[in-house]
Amino acid sequence: MSSHPDTAAPPAENSLRLAPVAPGDLGAVSEMAALIWPDAYGAILPAAQIDHMLRWMYDPEKLRADLADGVAMWWVLRGGDRIGFLAAGPVDAAGLCPLHKCYLLPSVQRCGNGSEALARLCETLACDGARLIELRVNRHNAPAIAFYRKNGFSLHAEDCRPIGAGFVMDDYLMRRSLD
Ligand SMILES: CC(C)(COP(=O)(O)OP(=O)(O)OC[C@H]1O[C@@H](n2cnc3c(N)ncnc32)[C@H](O)[C@@H]1OP(=O)(O)O)[C@@H](O)C(=O)NCCC(=O)NCCS
Repeated sequence: MSSHPDTAAPPAENSLRLAPVAPGDLGAVSEMAALIWPDAYGAILPAAQIDHMLRWMYDPEKLRADLADGVAMWWVLRGGDRIGFLAAGPVDAAGLCPLHKCYLLPSVQRCGNGSEALARLCETLACDGARLIELRVNRHNAPAIAFYRKNGFSLHAEDCRPIGAGFVMDDYLMRRSLD
């Protein structure tokens, strides 16, 4: 898939870096999620649930509200091209930080990009005072669970909750200490 040039990217360099998502760019996050989600969840969730969750979590107005609530979002850039996105925060008084979103385009998965992006994110969050990161992952998303385990997360709890339209999120909560 073609990726979008990022104007702030260093020229002619293939390094990975994170860049904050500008409020005016939230529509592009929605569009990228719509590309990634059917590939990531098509085998474990019905198409109607994927559509429901994309509308609920990725409407640009919802993403705007997330930013207003203190959630930070970053593009994952490789050589200046957008290859994925992350969302995390805010860090609470005890240093607990939720990791809300960790998504890469299918064409760049399983090449180490996710591990590198997560390492950069952990550095950034530690600078912001985070001591513990917590995320939710669908309990049937075996590749992502393997990825998080490989990157230092372990199972903390299980949580199954209704999300409307008759669907549930059936998740593991995983945590990683930054200390
Ligand atoms: C999950 C995701 C961010 C991981 O990023 P990635 O760049 O693909 O992962 P890496 O290449 O850094 O993989 C690191 C390790 O994770 C594990 N892993 C990653 N993808 C895996 C897969 N498909 N199957 C099994 N293990 C996998 C492996 O242990 C891997 O190490 P190895 O390649 O040396 O065996 C990315 O694949 C993605 O966006 N997936 C779709 C969306 C998703 O499920 N996001 C998580 C939502 S909670």
